[in-house]
This record gives sequence, C-alpha cells and structure tokens, in this order.
Amino acid sequence: MSALNYKKIGYVAMICAIFLLASIPKAAANEKEAERIIKNQCTACHKFEGKPESKFNLKGPDLMWAGNKYQRPWLLRWLQGKEENLYPKGYRWDLSPAPAKHPVLSEAQANSVADYFEKHFLDSRVGKSPVDMSTFNEMEAQLGADIFKNFSCLGCHQIKEDGKKIGGPISVNLYDAGNRYNLDWWSRFAANPQDFTPHSGEYLADLSPLGARYIIGYLMTLGVEDFKFFEPWKTGPFQNANAKRGDKVYREYCVQCHGAQGRGDGPGASGLDPKPAVHAELPLSDYPEDYLYNIIYYGGKENGKSPNMPDWGMTIPTQDLADLIAYLRATFKGGKEAVASPGMEKKSSGDCPQKRTTKKVSFKYSGKKNPLQPTAANIKAGETLYQKSAKPMACKLCHGKKGNGKGPGAAGISPAPRNFTCSATMADISDGQLFGIIKEGSKGTAMPAFKSLKDKEAWQLVHYIRQFSK
Ligand code: HEC
Ligand code: HEC
Ligand code: HEC
Ligand code: HEC
Repeated sequence: MSALNYKKIGYVAMICAIFLLASIPKAAANEKEAERIIKNQCTACHKFEGKPESKFNLKGPDLMWAGNKYQRPWLLRWLQGKEENLYPKGYRWDLSPAPAKHPVLSEAQANSVADYFEKHFLDSRVGKSPVDMSTFNEMEAQLGADIFKNFSCLGCHQIKEDGKKIGGPISVNLYDAGNRYNLDWWSRFAANPQDFTPHSGEYLADLSPLGARYIIGYLMTLGVEDFKFFEPWKTGPFQNANAKRGDKVYREYCVQCHGAQGRGDGPGASGLDPKPAVHAELPLSDYPEDYLYNIIYYGGKENGKSPNMPDWGMTIPTQDLADLIAYLRATFKGGKEAVASPGMEKKSSGDCPQKRTTKKVSFKYSGKKNPLQPTAANIKAGETLYQKSAKPMACKLCHGKKGNGKGPGAAGISPAPRNFTCSATMADISDGQLFGIIKEGSKGTAMPAFKSLKDKEAWQLVHYIRQFSK
C-alpha cells in the first residue's frame, strides 16, 4: 500500500471522528426524546418492565423484549402506521371485536424509539438461535408448512395462500412473519410461549428439535420475497462425490429392498405394497438432483410416496449421501424395454384407451372447475411447468414431451403414467380430479405430489394437459 493511501485513510478517519463528535449530543437528545415519547404515549397500553402477564390483564402486547423481537425496518413501518393491524379481531377481542387504530410516530421519532428499544429493552433469555437460516432448504420449509397445519397453528394464526388470507383470526397474523420477527427472539419464544404470553390462549406444540427447526424456519420465510433457499446438492460433498464409494452405501442400505441389481427384488420387497422402485428401469441419470436428494433424505412419506421408503437423512452422512446419488446416476440409466418384474402388472404406457385405476380425489377437489380461462398466456405458463420447471420434477419426464405417457421415466413405472393424448380416457376425467392429483399425487403410484405448485399454476397445467387430447 502506498503512502498516499495511508494519507487518505487518515482523512477519512478524521472526518469520521468529527462526525462522531457532532452526533453525540444529537444521540443523547434523541434518547431523551424517545424516553419522553415512550413515557407519555406508550406506557398507557404497553408494559416495558416487570413479569409477562395474561393478555386479559393488558391493553397492548408486552414490550420488555422489544429490542430483541423485531426486524428494524418492520418496526419503523409499524410505528409510522404503515403496517396492517396484527390482530385481525383486535388484541383484546374479549372487549372489542375490531382492531383499534394504533398511535403513529414521525420517521425521526420512530428511529429514536427503535434505537431506544435496541439499547434498553433486551431480554437476557434470548440467545443465538439454534436455527441457521443460511442452511434452510425448500423441503424443510414445506415440512414446516405441514407442521403449521397439522399442529393447529392455522387454527389461531392467519397466513396467506395464493394471496388469500386463510386461518383462524384469534391471535397475531403471521403472513409477514419473515419480515417482522428477529430469528433469535422467535426461536426463544417457540421454546416456550408461556415465558412471554402466559394464560393468553397460547399453545406449545410437541415437536422434536428437528420439527422445531422446520416450523421456526418456515415462519422466517413467510412474506419474504424470493427467499434464497439453501441447496445442499450444490455443496462440496456433491462436487467431490464418488460413485464407487456410493456403490458400497447402496449395498449397506438400499439392496435390502431394492435388490442387488436394483430390480426391486431385495428380501424386503415381497411384503411391500407398493413395491420398492425398480431402479434398473428408471433413468435416475436424468432425474433432477434435488428430487433424488429429497426422496432419499426425507423418504417416501414426505414426497407423496410410500412411507416404506425410509427417510435416510438422520442415518446417512452427507458425503455418503452424495456418493450414493452419484452411484445411482452413473448406474441406472433407464431400461430400453419395460420388463415385467416380480409382482408388477404388465406396463401400459401409451395405451389408448388406457386402463385407469386412479383413486378419486377428496371432495375438497372433486367439484372444482378450472377458474382460469384457457388463454394463450395460461397455456404457455402450463407448458413451461410441464416441460421444464415443475418441482420435484418436470411432467415430461414421465408423461412425455408430447403428453403420450411415454417419457424416459415411464419404462420402470407401474401403473403407467396417464396418456394425455388419449381423448377416450381424458374426456371422462373432471378438472377437479386432474387438479387434485397434481396437488396431492396418486398414492401408491409414481405420480408425485406437486405440493409447492400454487393453485393458479396447477390450473394452468390442467389447461395445458387438456390441449394434448384436443
Ligand atoms: C391505546 C393503546 C396503545 C397505545 C397508546 C400504544 N399502543 Fe402499541 N399496541 C397496542 C395494541 C392494541 C397493539 C396490537 C395492535 C394490533 O392488533 O394490530 C399494539 C402493538 C404494538 C407493537 C407491536 C407489538 C407486537 O405484538 O409485536 C409495538 C412495537 C407497539 N405497539 C409500540 C408502541 C409504541 C412505541 C407506542 C407509543 C408510541 C405504542 N405502541 C402506543 C396498543 C397501544
Ligand atoms: C389455540 C390458539 C393457538 C394455537 C393453536 C397456536 N397459537 Fe400461537 N399464539 C396464540 C396466542 C393467544 C398467542 C399470544 C399472543 C396473543 O394473541 O396475545 C400466540 C403467540 C404466537 C406467536 C408470537 C406472537 C407475537 O408476535 O407476539 C407466534 C410466532 C406464534 N404464536 C406461532 C404459533 C405457531 C407456529 C403455532 C403452531 C405450532 C401456534 N402459534 C399455535 C394462539 C395460538
Ligand atoms: C424398507 C425398504 C426400502 C429401503 C431399505 C429403501 N427403499 Fe427406496 N423405496 C422403497 C419403496 C417401497 C419405494 C416405492 C415408493 C412408492 O412408489 O410409493 C422406494 C422408492 C425409492 C425411490 C423413488 C423412485 C421414484 O420413482 O421416484 C428411490 C430413488 C429410492 N427408493 C432410493 C432408495 C435408496 C437410495 C435407498 C438406500 C439408501 C433406498 N431407497 C432404500 C423402499 C425402500
Ligand atoms: C415420476 C413420474 C411422474 C411425473 C414426474 C409426473 N407424473 Fe403424473 N402420473 C404419473 C403416473 C404413474 C400416473 C398414473 C397414476 C395412477 O394410475 O393413479 C400419473 C397420473 C397423472 C394424472 C392423472 C390423474 C387421473 O385421475 O387420471 C395427472 C392429471 C397427472 N399425472 C399430471 C401430472 C402433471 C401435471 C405432472 C407435472 C407437474 C406430472 N403428472 C408428473 C407419473 C408421473
């Protein structure tokens, strides 16, 4: 570094020092101002010290931990009256059923109050969260979403689905939780809500540490535009994967069901329905990396398949998993001819009319009509999903580029994928049925659940696949 640069740094440091000196009295003034605002305008409704209490004794939520609880940009918006009400039925729904208008501060006041919170209202119980959001993946968010529904969170807190508010409006809405909460505070709250909001109708879920990670992380994604999910299959162990080492892992864990040659005929297979996948006939080389990762790590149950395909995530270390996937890809490239394997019926991909044993979807779906018009834009959007972008994998892999049910993945599959070009079969299938199977999968078959598709996207797909038989 040259002397000139040193000089420059010297100037910058001096300017900073002057700036600092000038701002000290200003900071002190702001602090006084914040103290005055809080005392005169906030303490009538909020507690800033003392023990947590039942909401039924309070006028507004406790703020002893206000310095830990919020993301600053959200707090500033809230204090300036730029946020929606948090409690849809009013904080004290027992006194008045409508939310009241909250006092509003100027931008400068809001900043002073936020500074004051961060300095004075820190809760020593709140430590660093055990959840590292930089390693949080999309499947974990989906598992968190399942917990949100299965553990009644949705019964008391609203979220948004396809832009619409759903859920019980008793307590605080959570559709913007990822922009509102500080991860550390929310993780500590989740460990025991009663430490913060006792006797208020709050609820503690019976979750494992892993389940807690899923629900905590899931909330931190809500409302966050384009949340950047971690993609394990792009990390070092996968770049250094070795198929030969993976062969050994396959023998240790997979052969017992999938068979030594991947023919689905391991000793465990005879008692299973559906049968273990016949890897030897599947083009696993073409399967998306994330699909293989998710089915092996999280098992059949979480991927709309048989729960008899175990979730190996806790058992198999990352490098072994990466090696195993490299082995699957290098070894299984799809059978040329579909061969009938033990216990499987004859294949019928591409038949028309096609023998169809698909179960009826639940009444929640069956009566639905496609709410979208078959416009060029909707059909185009459906095409992109079908041919390229649908997750866990593009439809064409099984249903074929032309919709004839003869994709590269079809050979190893029984029952066969639907042949969408066959009007004799397709004409009798309702929109609601197509929609429901796309969303939830067809249990006991290779048809996966496309849980992450928005309703609108699933309807665009319905329009697109109907095109094949027109
Ligand atoms: C008239 C009573 C009242 C006054 C005065 C009041 N608040 Fe509130 N405050 C509430 C209520 C009620 C809520 C819950 C709002 C809702 O349902 O949307 C709330 C919510 C909040 C929240 C979010 C709480 C949470 O659950 O995370 C913050 C932060 C907050 N107020 C700060 C302040 C500050 C700072 C002041 C003083 C400038 C203030 N409030 C004055 C009643 C009040
Ligand atoms: C029986 C109703 C009920 C259920 C079920 C419930 N909650 Fe709550 N929740 C509450 C109440 C009540 C509070 C306390 C805040 C209030 O409403 O005064 C609360 C507080 C919270 C808060 C903090 C709110 C804040 O900003 O201070 C979060 C976050 C939360 N719940 C998430 C969840 C999650 C996740 C689940 C599911 C595992 C869940 N809740 C299940 C009623 C419920
Ligand atoms: C206890 C028996 C069992 C073991 C052990 C097992 N699987 Fe499976 N596996 C299944 C079953 C059953 C299915 C079919 C699920 C379905 O179709 O609903 C399956 C399906 C699969 C699929 C899905 C193929 C597709 O069409 O999407 C893959 C990939 C897979 N297993 C890989 C593995 C790997 C790798 C291992 C070893 C780490 C393994 N399995 C161990 C029973 C098992
Ligand atoms: C891994 C292979 C596979 C992939 C990928 C796949 N499907 Fe399927 N699909 C199947 C199989 C197998 C069936 C037949 C299921 C049955 O017989 O119950 C099927 C059936 C269907 C049906 C027929 C429902 C009925 O009631 O007859 C629809 C609709 C469908 N798939 C849509 C899609 C869409 C849309 C996609 C992409 C978003 C997709 N599938 C991706 C294998 C697949």
